[in-house]
Amino acid sequence: MRKSNFNLIDIVEILNDGNFHDGSKMGKDLNLTRAAIWKSVKKLKEYGISFEVSTSKGYKLSEPLQLLDIRKIRKLITDQNIPIDILESINSTNAYLKPFKNDNNSPKICLAEYQEIGKGRLGRNWHSPFGQNIYFSLLYNFKKDISELSGLSLIIGLTIVKTLENYGKNFQVKWPNDVIYENAKLAGTLIEMQAEANGSCQAIIGIGINVNMIKDDKNVDQLWISLRKITNQYIDRNSLIAAFINNLLIYIKKFEDYGLKAFIDEWKNYDALYNKKIDLKNLNSQISGIVKGINEQGNLMLELENGDIKSFASGDTTIMK
Ligand code: BTN
Repeated sequence: MRKSNFNLIDIVEILNDGNFHDGSKMGKDLNLTRAAIWKSVKKLKEYGISFEVSTSKGYKLSEPLQLLDIRKIRKLITDQNIPIDILESINSTNAYLKPFKNDNNSPKICLAEYQEIGKGRLGRNWHSPFGQNIYFSLLYNFKKDISELSGLSLIIGLTIVKTLENYGKNFQVKWPNDVIYENAKLAGTLIEMQAEANGSCQAIIGIGINVNMIKDDKNVDQLWISLRKITNQYIDRNSLIAAFINNLLIYIKKFEDYGLKAFIDEWKNYDALYNKKIDLKNLNSQISGIVKGINEQGNLMLELENGDIKSFASGDTTIMK
């Protein structure tokens, strides 16, 4: 695990203006040696960031880049007490939070620039290139039985859509936990839960949002999109994360107080599957039907060919052409 490094953040901030910068001048401005600058540039190259290098003019980033910066995020969030660890590199932000599970039951956030083995649902990988997207996990203790938390992943999808309102319309939730834009996946949620003997429940809520990724060198096996592709703009991840944290804590509190029923109307407004014919796949079964929304447990209501409406608690959905 590598914790976030303010020298690296500050160097990238200088380089992010699209111009060439001389190593010695940057060193002087930041009170660092030329060797320290060179080491940081080398590290960024190892993470896959590309530079133009000129012997007379110095370094220039080939693509814009802004790193996660706790100083900027803290300025914009309402809950000033929540601990946030920002890591340069980690296997998975969900895995990072596991050892903190029994620490005084208070929430904790982890963000990373890069995940070596980002985990997706159903055993898939989550492509996590350095410095481009949001890889976020929240450890949260619910004073509720695990059976009351079945709608949690739906709430997270709604929080993402709410946060993205500032970037345009047409973001939708796709049951159970995707956020999509014109049928392409923009974000996903992986929740790992553990019921405690005292009736409470520890959840690690992992969220991946494609933000500034424009190419996919790993051949992601799903149709994907990023905010940058949608808006044609390089997105400030620090402000986006702060807005997301603010909304997330509000949505989770409302969910704790009132349950999923308080969100059913909001879900209807953004439901990508409503009245669509879909295939629902589980490990050993596949069924098709027309989606009739969700129930108060967050289950998918499907109208089958014989006209019956049946509810489903899990599965992967594909819209049929
Ligand atoms: C999905 O398959 O749709 C869920 C993707 C969840 C990815 C996020 S990124 C942050 C957190 N850490 C992980 O390893 N996975 C989740």
